[in-house]
Amino acid sequence: MKLSTILNAILITQATAALIGSNVIKNNARFPSAPIEIANLKNAKTSDEDSHSSNNTDSSDSSESSNEESKSEQEEQEEQASVPIPIQCSRGDYEIKNVAELEKLYECDDIIGSIHITNFLGPTIDTGSIKSISGDLTVTNAANLVRINVPNLAVIGGSFSLRELTSLTAVHAPHLNHVGSIDWKVLPILSTVSFETGIKKITSITISDTSLIGFSGFDVDVLKVLNLNNNRFLDSINSNVKGIQEKLAISANAKGVTVNFPELEYANNITIRDVSSLNLSRVEKVNASMELISNQFQSLKLPKLRNVGGTLSLIGNANLKDVEFNNIDEVGGGLMVVNNSNIDNINFFPKLTSIGGAIELIGQMKEASFSKLRLVKGSAKISSVYDSFDCSKWTRGNEETGSIVRGGKISCINGKKKHDLDYNENGEILDESITIIEDENKNSNKLKAGGSTSDAPAQFFLSTTVLVGMIVASALQLLFF
Ligand SMILES: *[C@@H]1O[C@H](CO)[C@@H](O)[C@H](O)[C@H]1NC(C)=O
Ligand SMILES: *[C@@H]1O[C@H](CO)[C@@H](O)[C@H](O)[C@H]1NC(C)=O
Ligand SMILES: *[C@@H]1O[C@H](CO)[C@@H](O)[C@H](O)[C@H]1NC(C)=O
Ligand SMILES: *[C@@H]1O[C@H](CO)[C@@H](O)[C@H](O)[C@H]1NC(C)=O
Ligand SMILES: *[C@@H]1O[C@H](CO)[C@@H](O)[C@H](O)[C@H]1NC(C)=O
Repeated sequence: MKLSTILNAILITQATAALIGSNVIKNNARFPSAPIEIANLKNAKTSDEDSHSSNNTDSSDSSESSNEESKSEQEEQEEQASVPIPIQCSRGDYEIKNVAELEKLYECDDIIGSIHITNFLGPTIDTGSIKSISGDLTVTNAANLVRINVPNLAVIGGSFSLRELTSLTAVHAPHLNHVGSIDWKVLPILSTVSFETGIKKITSITISDTSLIGFSGFDVDVLKVLNLNNNRFLDSINSNVKGIQEKLAISANAKGVTVNFPELEYANNITIRDVSSLNLSRVEKVNASMELISNQFQSLKLPKLRNVGGTLSLIGNANLKDVEFNNIDEVGGGLMVVNNSNIDNINFFPKLTSIGGAIELIGQMKEASFSKLRLVKGSAKISSVYDSFDCSKWTRGNEETGSIVRGGKISCINGKKKHDLDYNENGEILDESITIIEDENKNSNKLKAGGSTSDAPAQFFLSTTVLVGMIVASALQLLFF
């Protein structure tokens, strides 16, 4: 079943590649998911900062300080390999433009510094015997480049960055197991990546505009960034990552893409767009914002999610029907449930007690019930196409508590009636109206809105502004307020 899915996907990629004129796609474009153990290279730098500082120190200049830095590198090195790093291998920055310049580095097992390859004319980049690069490996702007081979490279301490390589089809990195970050953008026909050892250590991954068809195997516990976008054949995304410290962003990949993060417990920001199934079943906390936009899934269950620090948005998920946020009790920013045309009852926040920003509920819902909600610090903008939708819950609040909306403005539309309420921080109503909305270019009727406020809780509805009923063109309404 799984195998046939993979084969299918490869065939699709090949067929499509043929359509777009590529003839070089050879094998599986999936990242391997079951890495094999190999020896660690402990002497390698382990983070972006380290690699930058070594870049700075080394390139600060040729003389003593740079020697010292490379000596301490050397000492660490000797513990393992007892081969000193020659001075020509620790020059800090290497700007490479052709094969000859690259081949000069073959005498280096370990490079202390970064390799930047730009405007390379040949079809293949091969790093030969190089085993580790303490800084970055970047390749940019090489229109003829078809293949990148790093046959012996196990470690890139900094960023492995590939940009704007329009002929690149394959990256062969059989021993690579430790990378500071992967940053790949505009590699439109890249379809084969082999990380046969599997990446065991990495902090950030950005892959944008490639022809890869699957993403899996980066089974590290924590990432800073995972951003996969505009990979038009990418139809499955799987990771066992547990935490994402900055951003999880997935958008504009293959139409039917399935996304599984079954172990993910927290992320700073989450943005998921254009996805056809999503598993975030263990997510407990989103520190900043969570956006789920234009997805095709019918069901969305976040049974463990307790807290969203920023804004929670569900927007334009056309098929979404079956929603569960059974544990969320606080949204620190706004809450938007907008334009999800199959949601007809917003009753899936049973424990939500407070919203730190505005609330916006727009769509074809017959009901919206938030049984525990006690506080909305921002305004409320509610709009349902149904006449039967109950706006008074929002405009009147309930008997004991008064309105829960503290942001100064409540607007609620049910069918053709628009209720507007402005009030100050003491809950005194400054303005109130009910407007009948007709078709865009016809007139609308503004009705009297007094009277009924008398049964509202005293602390909130202290005064009533009675408006004179009048008929105005809808376009002119604003002038009267
Ligand atoms: C590396 O050093 C060069 C100067 O030698 C500097 O321009 C570059 O920004 C440095 N790179 C990093 C990543 O620190
Ligand atoms: C999510 O993945 C976990 C682990 O694979 C599985 O147990 C669970 O049923 C999945 N949930 C959904 C909604 O698919
Ligand atoms: C991600 O979170 C930070 C705060 O931690 C926020 O400033 C930023 O705007 C967020 N980005 C997105 C895309 O939501
Ligand atoms: C986000 O929340 C997780 C889980 O509570 C926590 O470990 C992490 O430090 C938080 N990150 C930020 C940036 O607040
Ligand atoms: C919701 O749909 C309406 C009508 O198509 C559109 O004008 C509005 O921008 C959409 N709202 C959001 C937040 O996408």
